[in-house]
Amino acid sequence: MAKNKNNQALWGIRIKKNTPLLFQKIGNSIDIDKRLYKEDIAGSIAHVEMLFKQKIISFKIKNKIIYGLIKIEKEITNKKFEFNKKYEDIHMNIEKRLFQIIGEEAGYVHTARSRNDQVITDFKIWIKSATKEINLALNKIIKNTLKLAEKNIDTIMPGFTHLKNAQVISFAHYLMAYVEMFNRDIKRFSNNLNNLDENPLGVAALSGTSFNIDRNYTTKKLGFKRPTNNSIDTVSDRDFVLDFLYSVSVCSMHISRIAEELIIWNSDGFNLINLSDKVVTGSSIMPQKKNPDPLEYLRGKSGSTYGNLFAMLTILKGLPLSYFKDLQDDKEIIFKSNDTLLDCLKIFDEILKNFTPNKKQMLKLANSGYITATDLADYLVKNHSISFRKAYQKTAAVVNLAEKKNKDLDQLTLKELKKIEPKLTNDVLKVFDLKNSVNSKRSYGGTSFDNIKKMIMKYKKQK
Ligand code: ARG
Repeated sequence: MAKNKNNQALWGIRIKKNTPLLFQKIGNSIDIDKRLYKEDIAGSIAHVEMLFKQKIISFKIKNKIIYGLIKIEKEITNKKFEFNKKYEDIHMNIEKRLFQIIGEEAGYVHTARSRNDQVITDFKIWIKSATKEINLALNKIIKNTLKLAEKNIDTIMPGFTHLKNAQVISFAHYLMAYVEMFNRDIKRFSNNLNNLDENPLGVAALSGTSFNIDRNYTTKKLGFKRPTNNSIDTVSDRDFVLDFLYSVSVCSMHISRIAEELIIWNSDGFNLINLSDKVVTGSSIMPQKKNPDPLEYLRGKSGSTYGNLFAMLTILKGLPLSYFKDLQDDKEIIFKSNDTLLDCLKIFDEILKNFTPNKKQMLKLANSGYITATDLADYLVKNHSISFRKAYQKTAAVVNLAEKKNKDLDQLTLKELKKIEPKLTNDVLKVFDLKNSVNSKRSYGGTSFDNIKKMIMKYKKQK
């Protein structure tokens, strides 16, 4: 267990026997939480500066501690620091080393704090910067999606519901749906920061401290908005962990849905997009194959991020207040989710740059499945003063006729159409034009070319 300079366990006076090695193996978290060293040192520096300001420690001790901490940070950054599993976690590894560097005065650093508030302070600072990194990656994806959308405003494709041809759309409009999803992800991650942005430092083990500390001071120093209100809740609360894991899950679910879509579009049946050789892999037996493995990886990874969310929810279920060792697993869980998502975002960005729409096939597929039927119904309402339901029925009859004659809607003659609605004139034929159809959806948020252009501009200005 953790020992100070005199080679004695931190709690060695009270606890006489060494815990079995197996406990050490399960209980230590240094391999995981060493990732928090910068945050831990920043927290300790703010803490001792506050202790000095409040006249709890002397100027000399404060400076010595800060000197030691900065040296430790350099050692860790330069990979010169020896992490030791015996000292459990990053907090005790650093404290132990501080004793070696500055001697007994290191013993003042832990005045008026506990590892319980220390660890969540580190963790919250880390999540804030992880959030920034994820949002940067998301913004990059949005920018590249906008570029692709700009090039494809007049690329016509079928829009699907139930994976059946539904109505004609622009491929750019489809891509802009992805932009909306990723933009919500950014907002979701950012919104989490409102709740998270409370400084835990100074609540100590669970009840606060009798030292005259200034929590507003460390709050400012560490860039939090305000101190937390209740010391017991502070050391037990991991809602901010769940919020992050949930946001990761939603974002990876978005990626998973898009990946699945691109896999379908890349299949030989649909053949709507081409993937460059950079983002496919081959088969060990079938020489002809080009498989969309990276997309399948993206589709599958949401499984692990959901798993991480559920692991944390399960750890928290039924856990009384306040701190328990159960909580220590939170870091491994978040790091895994974070790293997986960042990888996925980078891979998705690569894919965005490495696929092209198969415009010919998109148009061909759009021209099937009686896709302009709703346009005909709308036309009847607008030009022949009938209700939508009546128009719907007449159009259904037109579709039946086309099916019987083995024709698409645009292959029907006016004479044939007139069998169902005698008042129809030549003018009706324009509703079967795919571009017309796309461009007629001018309602806000619809697929008309103008709407798409405006939306692309809006996002380009924002990013
Ligand atoms: N490594 C511990 C964790 O992550 C730090 C808090 C330890 N507190 C305690 N009372 N044992 O949860």
